[in-house]
Amino acid sequence: MDKTDKNPDQSSEDQRQEEEPFLKAMEDYIASKPTPFDVPGHKMGRMTTDLADMVGKDVFVADFNAPIGLDNLYHANGVIKEAEDLAAEAFHADKALFSVNGTTGGILTIINSLLRAKEKIILPRNVHKSVINALIMSGAFPVFVEPDIDEETGIANGVPTANYVKAMDENPDAKAVFVINPTYFGIVSDLKTICEEAHKRDMIVMCDEAHGAHFHFSDKMPCAAMDAGADIATLSVHKTAGSLTQTSLILAKTERIDFSRVLRVFGMLSSTSPNHILIASLDAARKFLYFKGKEYIDHSVELADYARSEINKLPGLFTLDSSYCDRPGRFKEDPSKLVINTSGLGISGFEVLREIRKRYNIQLELAEISEVLAIFGLGTLKEDADKLIEAFKGLSKEFYGKKKAYKIPHFHYEYPPIIVRPREAFNAPSKIVPINDAVGEISAESIMIYPPGIPIAIPGEVITKDALELIDFYQDHGGVLLSDSPDGYIKVIDQSKWYRGSEMEYEY
Ligand SMILES: Cc1ncc(COP(=O)(O)O)c(C=O)c1O
Repeated sequence: MDKTDKNPDQSSEDQRQEEEPFLKAMEDYIASKPTPFDVPGHKMGRMTTDLADMVGKDVFVADFNAPIGLDNLYHANGVIKEAEDLAAEAFHADKALFSVNGTTGGILTIINSLLRAKEKIILPRNVHKSVINALIMSGAFPVFVEPDIDEETGIANGVPTANYVKAMDENPDAKAVFVINPTYFGIVSDLKTICEEAHKRDMIVMCDEAHGAHFHFSDKMPCAAMDAGADIATLSVHKTAGSLTQTSLILAKTERIDFSRVLRVFGMLSSTSPNHILIASLDAARKFLYFKGKEYIDHSVELADYARSEINKLPGLFTLDSSYCDRPGRFKEDPSKLVINTSGLGISGFEVLREIRKRYNIQLELAEISEVLAIFGLGTLKEDADKLIEAFKGLSKEFYGKKKAYKIPHFHYEYPPIIVRPREAFNAPSKIVPINDAVGEISAESIMIYPPGIPIAIPGEVITKDALELIDFYQDHGGVLLSDSPDGYIKVIDQSKWYRGSEMEYEY
């Protein structure tokens, strides 16, 4: 059922969706004025710190740790279970779990629960670092598919369906297909068709829907994972759908997956003391989305469209719109994301991000070399859109025509070959070498440029000359290199102590 279908039982569903079982249980507990001899030690705000001056004492009053009647997040059978069931209904899933460990925790949970060591997963290379960490932890074997790479900007988009199908045909033993729905910049692959192709081959479909938590609630958005037929997805409700930071959902259709394993791993990877305010924020956001989501999402799209058309009039600037999605791998875009190409100003996107904050006190979401990203959300106001337009008018006046347009080389970057599984490389004997001497070595760690945090090399990949050039290029333009080694160094497999197959002695 997709978002335009009407449920014949709508009125009783509406009545159910009015409820906020967890939020209500918290309110009742506070109203009962218990005498707390449990943790936390501030005892419902009897003692407070300077934090209370900033956020108010009520935050402490509402901060408690699983008293009787508030259920248990990892063995939910009371008010949390009721709230999760309402979320499942609202998002058209069979099951929902509340994560207070973000979509990072959601991704670690779904990959570790549904893949065993050495099982294959087909996935794009431009995944978030949590996916690489999940490969290390699970021991799963990645089969990478090439995303569409914008040659003008170097930004990775969705994956052409044909690339997924080819990988499925070449790896009929693969257990899972992993899809990003959407990328950070809001571009999606043709998820429905990918799900159909995967299911024909008995493979399950997992989605990183970190940036698509609002998709299900408006037909102006690309198709949500559960509506497209995905088996499991994890969504950062905190990013685009109104809950507090750190809160996400795991949603599942249970026909093809063993949900009891998902539940077990979910509990293994999280604190046993989840913050109740965070859980309540998910319960309340679900009700908001159900009743008001469409109105607020559509309004944010109207404001983004307005800003798009005004900023397009300014010298040195242009914005991406639906015409960008004209090829496989750019199936559709999220119109509430405003991607502004700033190369015509003669300064990098990283500088634009800094200047607009310094001069206009506007915080953008993300910069790339020639782009910045402004996210229009449920809470964006018309006056905010006006301020953004005014700020870009100012930047255009200040910078346009002063320097040459920021020209970046065309990207033909190919991701390096993977030689060993990420877990094997992570656990293998290793040494630290200067990064400039590392060509031809096998990486034992992830190295990435932040932002946006997409790994340039992951454990198990050969380090290529191209990768080093890419790192230099990003660093010269304001990107920061992140790795576990000291600056200028990288951890690689020590091949004097390791040979292919040696892991069999200790590794599963
Ligand atoms: C594509 C993608 N996946 C996953 C995540 C992790 O989400 P969270 O911050 O909710 O842990 C992010 C975070 O920015 C992301 O961009």
